[in-house]
Amino acid sequence: MKKILITGGLGFIGSHTVVELQNAGFDVVIIDDLSNSSVEVLNNIGRITGTTPEYHQIDLRVKEEVKNFFNKVNVDGIIHFAAFKAVGESVQKPLDYYENNIGALVYLLQEMRDRNIDHFIFSSSCTVYGQADELPITENAPIKPAESPYGNTKQIGEEIIRDTCKANGLNAIALRYFNPIGAHDSLKIGELPLGVPQNLVPYITQTALGIREQLSVYGDDYDTPDGTPIRDYIHVVDLAKAHVAALQRLMEKKNKENFEYFNIGTGKGNSVIEIINAFEQTNDLKLNYKIVARREGDVTAAFADTTIANRELGWKTEKTLNEALKSAYEWQKKQTVDTLK
Ligand code: WQD
Repeated sequence: MKKILITGGLGFIGSHTVVELQNAGFDVVIIDDLSNSSVEVLNNIGRITGTTPEYHQIDLRVKEEVKNFFNKVNVDGIIHFAAFKAVGESVQKPLDYYENNIGALVYLLQEMRDRNIDHFIFSSSCTVYGQADELPITENAPIKPAESPYGNTKQIGEEIIRDTCKANGLNAIALRYFNPIGAHDSLKIGELPLGVPQNLVPYITQTALGIREQLSVYGDDYDTPDGTPIRDYIHVVDLAKAHVAALQRLMEKKNKENFEYFNIGTGKGNSVIEIINAFEQTNDLKLNYKIVARREGDVTAAFADTTIANRELGWKTEKTLNEALKSAYEWQKKQTVDTLK
């Protein structure tokens, strides 16, 4: 049974990917420093699949800790999620983002080089495109200057991996995520933003439950049909399955280049107001929101052209937007109940 290391495996996308990897027959070991997750997620993964993954609490910014891990554990491939991901925070604390998002990546790649570990999947983001000139966004869209240190770490990360593949024969795939939302059907894992949610959907679910007073919609004067920005909201389970497909591509040596990258989205765009309306209709409620000023760094519209990912990965989205919005709300309700216990 192939053993795969998932860094950040207790996080939102990481935990859902661990479940799908176990479902696909892989043996999984998780590294997570718990800076943005909870060890309870480990037990909940076990409750879903029947197998609680091996787990190590390691800070990947500490080179010795990374080396010691690989001295103890042999793996056949790595999916690297562990990174800081708050766009606004990255502007305030750029060095924390470069140390964590770049430093840890370099240490992992050094261990892969020294131990001939050959398969690497990198968590990238549509942020690398900035405001694309054409929509939907294809993989050939130019990489624009990053609008935030967070986005820059994703661009630099891809370049580091590209150079490493060329120099050391590593095989790697970067998955450029659009906007992941929703929760696992079991409602045992989902999005657990610590503190005030930065992203739209968790802020909506918490507003619907009265945890937040009111949702602020950041601007309705964009060049879109209803004036609010458009994004490609993909169910996190569909995103998780894309990682399994990408890993299988590498392990079956179907990759055409050492370094490949794919846009992982639904291929459809929805505005903020459309998401609010769909959320209200799906969950049969009215949401308290107001229009406020634009948020610095937001692009007008971003949604994926998924032609290449569909063809090359043999993967496509299966879940609907309404399923994602329903599961997000049901998951948040469950959290609130559990914390009230
Ligand atoms: C979506 C839309 C906001 C909150 C970022 C990163 C991306 C990925 C996902 C990590 C925008 C609007 C939001 C709110 C609002 N990060 N909004 N009120 O900015 O598209 O993507 O998060 O994996 O890499 O770039 O996602 O959910 O923050 O915003 O009106 O309270 O919702 O203006 O138009 P974003 P988001």
